[in-house]
Amino acid sequence: MDTKTPERYDVLVIGGGPGGYVAAIRAAQLGFRVACCESNPYADPDGEPRLGGTCLNVGCIPSKALLHTSHLFADARDVFAAHGIYINVPRIDVPGMIGRKNAIVTQLTKGIKGLFKKNGVTLLKGVGVFAGPVENGWRLSVGGALVEAERVVIATGSRARHLPGIPVDNRIVCDNVGALDIDAVPKRLIVIGAGVIGLEMGVLWRRLGAEVTLIDVLPDFLPQADRDIAREAARIFSKLGIDIRLGITLGDIKISKKGVAITCADQSGAAMKIEGDRVIVSVGRQPNVEGLNARAVGLEFDEHGRIQTDARCRTNLPGVWAVGDVTSGPMLAHKAMEEAIMVAETMAGQSGCRDFDAIPWVIYSLPEIAWVGKTEQQLKAENVACKTGRIPFTASGRALGAGETAGFVKMLADAATDRILGVHIIGANASELISEAVVAMKFGAASEDLARICHAHPSLSEVIHEAALACDKRALHF
Ligand code: FAD
Ligand code: NAI
Repeated sequence: MDTKTPERYDVLVIGGGPGGYVAAIRAAQLGFRVACCESNPYADPDGEPRLGGTCLNVGCIPSKALLHTSHLFADARDVFAAHGIYINVPRIDVPGMIGRKNAIVTQLTKGIKGLFKKNGVTLLKGVGVFAGPVENGWRLSVGGALVEAERVVIATGSRARHLPGIPVDNRIVCDNVGALDIDAVPKRLIVIGAGVIGLEMGVLWRRLGAEVTLIDVLPDFLPQADRDIAREAARIFSKLGIDIRLGITLGDIKISKKGVAITCADQSGAAMKIEGDRVIVSVGRQPNVEGLNARAVGLEFDEHGRIQTDARCRTNLPGVWAVGDVTSGPMLAHKAMEEAIMVAETMAGQSGCRDFDAIPWVIYSLPEIAWVGKTEQQLKAENVACKTGRIPFTASGRALGAGETAGFVKMLADAATDRILGVHIIGANASELISEAVVAMKFGAASEDLARICHAHPSLSEVIHEAALACDKRALHF
């Protein structure tokens, strides 16, 4: 352990993911002397800490880069001919695809280091561990060196949850880390957990030619989504050739030279064997809290093992905040970033708040799924009477021209006030279209407000416009 006088900062951020790096940059912009420490679990050829956390290294960005390649490949194979474009049968070079993804990750993670330099944030290499309170702040050890800070932001994120009896080696049995580095198209891929990662990975490898079996313990498909969306998604993904099996209880897993065999039971208790040559385990994530020595300094946790915070992300310890996956709320990069900004601005005496009701969810499958606000089922359970505007993408000339007619937009508005309470999309570019709904809901707009906004023609956004009109039963093109 270092015996030098500890370096002192106004703010020390633990973890360099979307929550951590954004908190560090925003705090520095507001005039604080800031350091951010990163423990670097990601393979960096130079042994340097890689910023960007799960999101940039083994999450959002690499998964979307690979999904984009798979869409191009499948379009070349399945769709080009419908446009009168004839090419030789396309071939996928998986190492080439992975190499492109790695280059994007490297560019972005280096970019965050550049942003740290630009904003004067000091990057410390190593695991941040609480040593204890000091006068007006906290002492921590980072990679063996002691540092002190008046305020600490914990942004240590999450890692994949694993299942007992199913050892992850990230070669044959992968979590999100190995799943983004698979070096050849598996002949038969088993995905355990039909949640967000399971769907994105299932679609990715199915479109590259794998036979995909998606299994989930729950009897309902995508339970967090509006039921109409979930039903349509199950229909479309089954048509794509993904074998979706719900209500499955896992038994033994056997890994041999021939591949993987999982014994399980269906809802009736009947035994079945599912075979494949690779497995992806995507059954949720758990917070990274172990290395922090957090319990010793008295940090409190909720029943899910996530750091307990109030609506301003304050923990029970004075001057200690927690943001992102390590605390409650959706495990999403944009939620982590919103909280990070709020915390930095609150530290600077500004006002800030987080609004879980206006956080968009997107599943980057094909078609994409996106929603914001309440589902019809939640509104029913809360006894809120609502009106519904539902328009299929087949009603859009732009969708037809692009050959992207699958899916629909469903808008829910309060029956009494017309205020928009939820927007649910399954269809092309749902990830971009949902932003209009987020803005509308954030400003408390009514469906009538969206109905009166001029939408570019032809554009997919017209489907949102029509859904708003349909809330008042006056859709024009359906
Ligand atoms: P993280 O990104 O996990 O970063 C935490 C960082 O802290 C890590 O770099 C870790 O090394 C470091 N750390 C941990 N402990 C210590 C310590 N003691 N000392 C120093 N450093 C430490 N979200 C979306 O919004 N959109 C998506 O499309 C999306 N896709 C995803 C795809 C996959 C496959 C996965 C796995 C996740 C995806 N997510 C997506 C979720 C998103 O990645 C997370 O919500 C987000 O990264 C959380 O940010 P964070 O800063 O809280 O934590
Ligand atoms: P998830 O919570 O989305 O889905 C996990 C699934 O695993 C659930 O359907 C659950 O029923 C199932 N499951 C749990 N235990 C099981 C078992 N023993 N056997 C079979 N199935 C089981 O979690 P996932 O997919 O791991 O993703 C984690 C989080 O990462 C997401 O919730 C999301 O917050 C984030 N993420 C976000 C993305 C995005 O925004 N596009 C993309 C990927 C991840």
